[in-house]
Amino acid sequence: MTALSGRAVVAGGASGIGAACCRVLARCGASVVVLDRHAQNAEAIAREVGGEAVLADVGDEASVRDAAQRIERNGPVAFLINSAGIIQRPVPPEGLPLDRWDDIVRIDQRGTYLTCVAFGEAMARRRQGAIVNIASVVGMRSAPLHAYAPAKAAVIAITECLAAEWGPMGVRVNAVSPGYTRTPALQGAIDAGERDVSLLTRYSALGRLVEPDDIARACAFLLSEDAAAITGINLPVDCGWLVSTSWATYGGLRQRN
Ligand SMILES: NC(=O)c1ccc[n+]([C@@H]2O[C@H](COP(=O)([O-])OP(=O)(O)OC[C@H]3O[C@@H](n4cnc5c(N)ncnc54)[C@H](O)[C@@H]3O)[C@@H](O)[C@H]2O)c1
Repeated sequence: MTALSGRAVVAGGASGIGAACCRVLARCGASVVVLDRHAQNAEAIAREVGGEAVLADVGDEASVRDAAQRIERNGPVAFLINSAGIIQRPVPPEGLPLDRWDDIVRIDQRGTYLTCVAFGEAMARRRQGAIVNIASVVGMRSAPLHAYAPAKAAVIAITECLAAEWGPMGVRVNAVSPGYTRTPALQGAIDAGERDVSLLTRYSALGRLVEPDDIARACAFLLSEDAAAITGINLPVDCGWLVSTSWATYGGLRQRN
């Protein structure tokens, strides 16, 4: 198993991919801080992994900086995962109110940047640390998600910029781009009729949805010494969605029994 020694902050750790990251990081030996805006869920996950919960809104600079200072007062943070995010309905631009667009960009893009900076600056001063930002495969392709997809493309770009900025100071910054992952957020979209499971799996080479644990184990690898020479990459963990969607032009993947 991957070994991680030190304190790890998981932003968005109270649910879905973030909660899976909290569990996997704790199993790897890290001491976990669950940073989230949902108090009850954050405390439940923190209790489960023997860590602590800290409340913050990642899109609010003062809130993130205050949380980072409080967390750092109890000891240095070695690892950070940015998983806080919200998704959107697949609607044309005229169906997407600009305040919703602003909200998605504020949390998914600005929130990732603010959290990276709030914890990364201290890592850079200490010349040690590793960060993983959760982007998305739709940040690498076009999709009818006119706020979410560009915000996730920006997360990939933020990752590359900060990797170059802090690499000379010994801080690694990578991204993981999940495909469709079975979390409360995706389940909510499926239940609301905004995503169709049969379409999601039809364009998956491995024929299934991604599980939160699949993402968490990739994050643990990128944070660990096993990835000591890896920085600035974007690792898709998508059950082969990226390699399958272009086969739609040829009638889709072959059905094999
Ligand atoms: N589930 C998928 O299929 C999928 C695919 C690609 C990328 N992602 C990304 O993975 C990340 C996690 O998604 P998930 O599916 O686990 O969602 P989720 O809704 O299950 O969990 C998201 C967590 O982020 C927290 N959060 C939201 N806004 C916040 C804010 N402003 N400040 C602090 N915490 C906040 C929520 O309280 C929640 O605990 C997101 O960035 C999402 O865009 C998910």
